[in-house]
Amino acid sequence: MKTNLVLTNPAQVDTECLVVVALDRGAKDKPEVILETSEDAVKKAAAEVIASGELSGKNCETTLLHHPAGLKAKRLLVLGGGKGAKFTQFDLRRLAGTAVRTLKSRGLRSFAFVVPQANISAEIAAKAVVEGAFVGNFDPDTYKSDRKDQTIDQLTIVATGDQGKLQAAVEEARIIGESQNFTRVLVNEPSNRMTPTVLAEHAKRMAQEVGLQCEVYGADKIKELKMGAFWSVAQGSDEPPALIVLKYEPAGAPEKPVLGLVGKGITFDTGGISIKPADGMEKMKYDMAGGAAMIGAMRAIALLKPKVKVTMIVCATENMPSGKAQKPGDVQIAMSGKSIEIINTDAEGRLVLADGLYYARQLGCTHLVDAATLTGAVVVALGYVNAGIFANNDELYDRFHKAEDKAGEKFWRMPLDDEYKEVIKSSIADIVNSGGRWGGAVTAAMFLKEFAEDTPWLHLDIAGTAWTEDAKPWIAKGPSGIAVRSLVEFVKGYSG
Ligand code: BES
Ligand code: MN
Ligand code: ZN
Repeated sequence: MKTNLVLTNPAQVDTECLVVVALDRGAKDKPEVILETSEDAVKKAAAEVIASGELSGKNCETTLLHHPAGLKAKRLLVLGGGKGAKFTQFDLRRLAGTAVRTLKSRGLRSFAFVVPQANISAEIAAKAVVEGAFVGNFDPDTYKSDRKDQTIDQLTIVATGDQGKLQAAVEEARIIGESQNFTRVLVNEPSNRMTPTVLAEHAKRMAQEVGLQCEVYGADKIKELKMGAFWSVAQGSDEPPALIVLKYEPAGAPEKPVLGLVGKGITFDTGGISIKPADGMEKMKYDMAGGAAMIGAMRAIALLKPKVKVTMIVCATENMPSGKAQKPGDVQIAMSGKSIEIINTDAEGRLVLADGLYYARQLGCTHLVDAATLTGAVVVALGYVNAGIFANNDELYDRFHKAEDKAGEKFWRMPLDDEYKEVIKSSIADIVNSGGRWGGAVTAAMFLKEFAEDTPWLHLDIAGTAWTEDAKPWIAKGPSGIAVRSLVEFVKGYSG
């Protein structure tokens, strides 16, 4: 999707469809729908339908008018945004996605969005509109024979304000939106077409395009590095594993910090010998969503050029049962030297991440963030709305919290009290890989914490949020690309 910015009067914009937000600015039970534009001609064009009472302004309500009087546009789409006092950039993203999905399903290829300024600065609002539009423009129907390839090809942003700042905001948002969709394409692919090798090839090609250093290592290097935890998962699959390393080292960046992004890249999770039930197992193709989020974030980082060093590591493998697969009771030695008793081979994500986190520290990372579809338990705790976030450092958490706010994503902080450590003690080794059912998301994070040690670290458990179960007006069913935008804002926050 191409984007362009115009600062012209919305009534004069020549477009297939002009999109305007309508907010309810009335008292509690007396709705008063107001169009978010200072342009009288636009207000006039919608005056009749508003007066009819057919339009309540409630969230994601869409009203499409043809031949709007007094406007150059062929159509006018009025998008309800709910209560004016509560309206934020978070809601605006969803409205932009809703506009895209409403109009592309009607066969339109382009439209112009009038950026509302309700409680939000023009640049922040313009950025939210572009990002939200990219979210809405993705559909997962890659392999449908009758795929209509219905997308919006051209988005015009109609705004008022400082042209230079607005242009920069639109550009930045386009890069972030494209990168989020790049992640979603990777996550959407089935595991026969997105093996660890293929994932690594995608990372390598992207790295070449945007100018990142890329190394991909195979089984030999994983064994040479003594990544016994990563290898214990990889050993069970005929598909070769991949250790993917991307480095972003811009000229002029200080020596420190070096941010380490570590992703879980399980391209299919059968559970291994502790095999999962057949029901819903097809979903486990998205068990590489954390790794894909890191790869997408690196794309955006390379293009946005913040002045901070970033190293990314994705541990990619399948988790399979086979004659070579590890078994419950096996003891593995992680790269850090810690011994791990395998209680459940389905708790494989923490194994590959244990070595990924340790390796990141060896490569000089001073701060760590991992992203993983790590536990079913986080879905029990937080559902599909919030992703879980864990931190061993409050300052690092605060930084991420600011970033996620800017990005319009939702994470909820979960605890890491020492008491939880009890359940991951082993009688034969240093630690077990499963603390059982209760507090499963926390005990998984406690396991990872053992490998971050004293390095400031954040863990994002995106098991419930990486895949949208039911389509929403603003987003298709399928991969969500969660975490990409927050990670990009987080990294940008370190740029001087
Ligand atoms: N990949 C799964 C977690 C998952 C569940 C992701 C649902 C997406 C949706 C992970 O590897 C796993 O199997 N975790 C186990 C851990 C248990 C064996 C301690 C789980 O959550 O059941
Ligand atoms: Mn598993
Ligand atoms: Zn898994």
